[in-house]
Amino acid sequence: MLKEVKPGIYFVGAIDWDRRLFDEVIPLPDGTSYNAYLIEGSEKTALIDTVDPTKEEEFLLNLKKLGVKKIDYIVSNHAEQDHSGAIPAALKRYPEAKVVTNQRCASMLMDLLPVPEDKFLIVRDKETLSLGNKTLKFILAPWVHWPETMLTYLKEDKILFTCDFFGSHLATSNLYARDEAKVYESAKRYYAEIMMPFRINIKKNIEKIKDLKIDMIAPSHGPVYINPKFILNAYKDWVSDKVKNEVIIPYVSMHGSTGKMVHYLTDQLMEKGLTVKPYNLTNTDIGELAISLVDAATIVIASPTVLFGLHPSVLFATYLTNILKPKLKFAAVIGSYGWGGRIVDQLKATLNNLKVEFLGTVLVRGTPKKEDLEKLDELAEEIVKAHNELNLF
Ligand code: FEO
Repeated sequence: MLKEVKPGIYFVGAIDWDRRLFDEVIPLPDGTSYNAYLIEGSEKTALIDTVDPTKEEEFLLNLKKLGVKKIDYIVSNHAEQDHSGAIPAALKRYPEAKVVTNQRCASMLMDLLPVPEDKFLIVRDKETLSLGNKTLKFILAPWVHWPETMLTYLKEDKILFTCDFFGSHLATSNLYARDEAKVYESAKRYYAEIMMPFRINIKKNIEKIKDLKIDMIAPSHGPVYINPKFILNAYKDWVSDKVKNEVIIPYVSMHGSTGKMVHYLTDQLMEKGLTVKPYNLTNTDIGELAISLVDAATIVIASPTVLFGLHPSVLFATYLTNILKPKLKFAAVIGSYGWGGRIVDQLKATLNNLKVEFLGTVLVRGTPKKEDLEKLDELAEEIVKAHNELNLF
């Protein structure tokens, strides 16, 4: 796809309609895009990021269609290969170009790609680079989501090129994010899976750009924001310390007993006015679980005991929850067992990144009986009490 973003500024990236997995773990139900942008100044031409190596041909074709004879600068905002992977091909086509980036990113690019050291033009935080009638300003924004990440601000047009930051895994023919409800879901999924572990750094980086006058945010995944407030406000909400009156229950049930407990507890909590999201891990999209982790106050992990431990699918979801570092406040464990086990210790050890208060454990031998359901009533009361104390109702 080749499109004009504004006069003299072009989208020259590629849409990946078919990609369904990122990092071999993150589901991409709506595909993704690798956005590269060409900026034609009166004296110099700059490229902002490139594309994934699998889309190199399409990217080079876009530049050819545009009649680009010379590129002076290839700005690399982030070293990960879905944006940097086509830098060697771009350098081969445009050998006079310099790769403009910070020292940390340059060092990573030399490790990840064959980019020779003499090809780099190293920039520092807040440094500017003139293209003639247009000026690029570089803003270091570490840990969104790698340590070397930076943003590029095009002063005259007030466009902030943010690479992964504010991005969405969404393949669409729309250049701009006009369907905000659709983009919101994709951007939240992206935040949950990629950015959430760096929530505190992201807060600092949002603060860093708060005085910039921004007319457009042009990320390197998903559509361009012509209403920057939409995505800035969404991010401010996601990174805030506030949690919502929500309980998520990832679970597996092998013979129906844990499932019965989950459904009983779900009903009890719903009747008390909480939003409850049970996820059967045998068929759930793990990205949906991640999205719920952005806001939820409580997680109840429900697992049968398998060979003395958590069901492997529950262990995977618990591990994922731990490394995504959501702002959960409370946790509980429920499940059924045959003869014994140690799932509580295993679960607490797996959630060691989280600062959660454990509200209770309900483990049942076999199928849940009347007295077991009463214990679930008590757990529901504990959850309501905890949410009340945080004024979540
Ligand atoms: Fe889209 Fe971190 O790469």
